[in-house]
Amino acid sequence: MTQATRTDTSNAIDPRVFPPTARRGRNCGELKLNGIRATALTEQFGSPLYVVDENAARARAIEVRSALQSEAERIGTSATVYYATKAFLCIEVARWMAEEGLAIDVASGGELAVALAAGVDPARIGFHGNNKSVQEIERAVAAGVGTIILDSEFETERVAQAAARAGIRQRVRLRVNSGVHASTHDFLATSHEDQKFGQPLSEAPRLVRDILRHDNLLFVGLHCHIGSQIFATSGFRESARRLLGAYPELAAITGRPIPELNLGGGFGIAYTSAAADEEPAVADVARELADIVAETASELGVPLPHLAFEPGRSIIGQAGVTLYTVGTTKSVQLAGSNVAADPADLGYAERLYVSVDGGMSDNARPALYGADYQVRIANRVSEAEPALVRVVGKHCESGDIVVQRDELPGDVRPGDTLAVAATGAYCWSLSSNYNYVPRPPVVALRDGEARLIVRGETEDQLLAMSVISETHDTPDTNGATK
Ligand code: LLP
Repeated sequence: MTQATRTDTSNAIDPRVFPPTARRGRNCGELKLNGIRATALTEQFGSPLYVVDENAARARAIEVRSALQSEAERIGTSATVYYATKAFLCIEVARWMAEEGLAIDVASGGELAVALAAGVDPARIGFHGNNKSVQEIERAVAAGVGTIILDSEFETERVAQAAARAGIRQRVRLRVNSGVHASTHDFLATSHEDQKFGQPLSEAPRLVRDILRHDNLLFVGLHCHIGSQIFATSGFRESARRLLGAYPELAAITGRPIPELNLGGGFGIAYTSAAADEEPAVADVARELADIVAETASELGVPLPHLAFEPGRSIIGQAGVTLYTVGTTKSVQLAGSNVAADPADLGYAERLYVSVDGGMSDNARPALYGADYQVRIANRVSEAEPALVRVVGKHCESGDIVVQRDELPGDVRPGDTLAVAATGAYCWSLSSNYNYVPRPPVVALRDGEARLIVRGETEDQLLAMSVISETHDTPDTNGATK
């Protein structure tokens, strides 16, 4: 029994995981987000509910941007910080990011449409994707998108044709793989060779020569994104070193210094209070990256390029909290079962399954990547002994897990509101309608006030997607056919 190693943090609101404004109120210890009671939010907007602390998101955007820009300035260059909208995008969020001085990275025609609808300056948009359609490319070129990131020679041709038709010269970057295998989940690593994105770095000279054949393209530099949810800075350093290593040869090909270098995003965040989940400070990552760029550039004698970065998760992740309502609970004996004891279960003899009103449709990350989250009872604190819990959803799959393993006061019960931390990135954006469960709304909290920024779906909207064939009789609401 490892009882002694347990510490009862089951009511604690960890500011490294929850937004900085989250705290327990004096009245029953209810969780307050940006000064607003969690249950006031679910009463007004429904449950489940995605909540984004706008003050926290804006502050973090400024922190990340300033860290990367001031370090670039320290070594004698400058930097553009793009917000990777795939993490979470709606019109409001695009506006916040643009207002806080970030450029915008989009990866589809849909994301581009949202950024444009938000009034983002097209010149400050970067357009990614390994298989952009010709229509998407044409829309981007016509809109005046600042940079298109070419993923293959097919795209070189397609972007050149679109730019020629529009009568413009389109700025392009080339996405390459530095060959660095980032230490993260396999599905989140993107710069080793055996995956779909980008071209091998060794192919860059040939591909850049190909780009130069087109007068309608302006090659501005290389792009490399090594992966996502990365804690160790060594991968970023090595990737930056390898990319810059190619710059002398590319400069010889283009006949001028390569003006820019985009090192992608991927900075990891803490999802739980576990020591292993300690994220590096963005200032340290920025300093290390700037140092390696400065050292390598000086070793190679290449002029320092303008730097670009594309963080998504590290800006919006911890600003988000999802609120759920508990529907049922059940206890399962672990001790004496035919399953080998897992040390991560902390010696508990039983696991309490806590079913909530959402699940893998609003947070697919545990099912997709085995991601960990932290959960707390939001509507009250409790003195009850902690229990080992698994928070599960309402979908028809046993893998429908929201929180694989955490401790909650053992009296957690139907009707309680639960808060799951750090759900700002890749939760709403990866959400689905599995089992015809409508997507929850998103509410932004700013200066103690809540407002809707993304509407929730309704069953009527989901029903409206079904096409009813003319040749079939339509049942009336009592099931009788007309
Ligand atoms: N730039 C490029 C080219 C990317 O592909 C990505 C993420 C980013 C920037 C932003 O990465 P971030 O800073 O957010 O880590 N669905 C997965 C993450 C997939 C990331 C895809 N690309 C998850 O939920 O963990």
